[in-house]
Amino acid sequence: MTSPDLPAELKAALNARLEGLSRSDAAGRAAIISQTYREGGGSSTIKTETDALAYAVARMPATYAAVVASLNALSEIRPDFAPTSLLDVGAGPGTASWAAAEAFPSLQAFTLLDANEALRTLALDLTRRSDRLRRITYELGRARTYAAHAEAADLVIASYVINELNDAERDALTDVMWEKTRNTLLVVEPGTPAGYARIIALRARLIAAGAHVTAPCPHDRACPLVAPDWCHFSQRLQRSRAHKQVKGADAPFEDERFAYVALSRARAENRPSRVLAQPDVGKVEIAAKLCTPEGVVVARVPRRAKADYARARRWRWGDAVIDNPRRPGESRDP
Ligand SMILES: C[S@@+](CC[C@H](N)C(=O)[O-])C[C@H]1O[C@@H](n2cnc3c(N)ncnc32)[C@H](O)[C@@H]1O
Repeated sequence: MTSPDLPAELKAALNARLEGLSRSDAAGRAAIISQTYREGGGSSTIKTETDALAYAVARMPATYAAVVASLNALSEIRPDFAPTSLLDVGAGPGTASWAAAEAFPSLQAFTLLDANEALRTLALDLTRRSDRLRRITYELGRARTYAAHAEAADLVIASYVINELNDAERDALTDVMWEKTRNTLLVVEPGTPAGYARIIALRARLIAAGAHVTAPCPHDRACPLVAPDWCHFSQRLQRSRAHKQVKGADAPFEDERFAYVALSRARAENRPSRVLAQPDVGKVEIAAKLCTPEGVVVARVPRRAKADYARARRWRWGDAVIDNPRRPGESRDP
């Protein structure tokens, strides 16, 4: 399992770039950028190198953690997957490329693409001394146009990108990304109802085009969740001193909520059920909401079923249920 915390090499590169930069200026820029995101303006306020750096210090640890968590889920189901090429669409400061490089030592060629020049400059600077990310090509341009001309890659990732596109652009980019996917496409979004809705629409579109879900869903059918319920996960990450300063936060960690889907050309041999919320551990039983190949169920594992109970005690929100217990008191979700 890859750690959700930024690799030492990346932390050192970010710290080196931060030298001489006033933390209060960076915090001010990060606050404006984050406000613009909340208002739906995407990355439009990231214009200068300081903006790019402020954005990276404030947000890269969390989006990195979400991509790592999604790649860990993918690798758990496909332990044999060893991609050699990556296409990182809407790469920004290079977050998903760093995450994929950590998760897959097999990766050799990294192609990054983004329309934002300041983020591209920062990404190239951060990777300048990296051994792992030596062979990178970073193209500046609109995702859909560039991706259409890019070489296909074993792994394609779009991390926190499709929320910046309108519906027509998103559909067009979805099709192009799938066309360029030799093996697996991973799309990660914020863990909000809107982020989930975008993931579900993309998932349905690509299943209709022949894709198979590798994670998180154990099936290719329509999502069984009914609104206002939505599928999302949470990843805890440690905050560095600079991260806390730029976010104006005291807590030494944060929890990033995210939604994701990994779609592959071939169907995975084993698609385990998925824990959809933190299980309720009571005195007499553990109750866990699971997405199973047959739909959403609440598995109730009584304490007296010792071996099953011990296994269920280890379940965490987002886990794949590799050893499914007998689920004695299983009930369908209303
Ligand atoms: C929220 S950032 C995410 C960056 C990175 N993938 C991450 O996870 O940290 C979204 C990125 O998508 C890029 N982007 C948005 N729309 C784009 C488009 N149509 N073509 C290329 N890049 C785009 C933005 O410039 C920005 O860098």
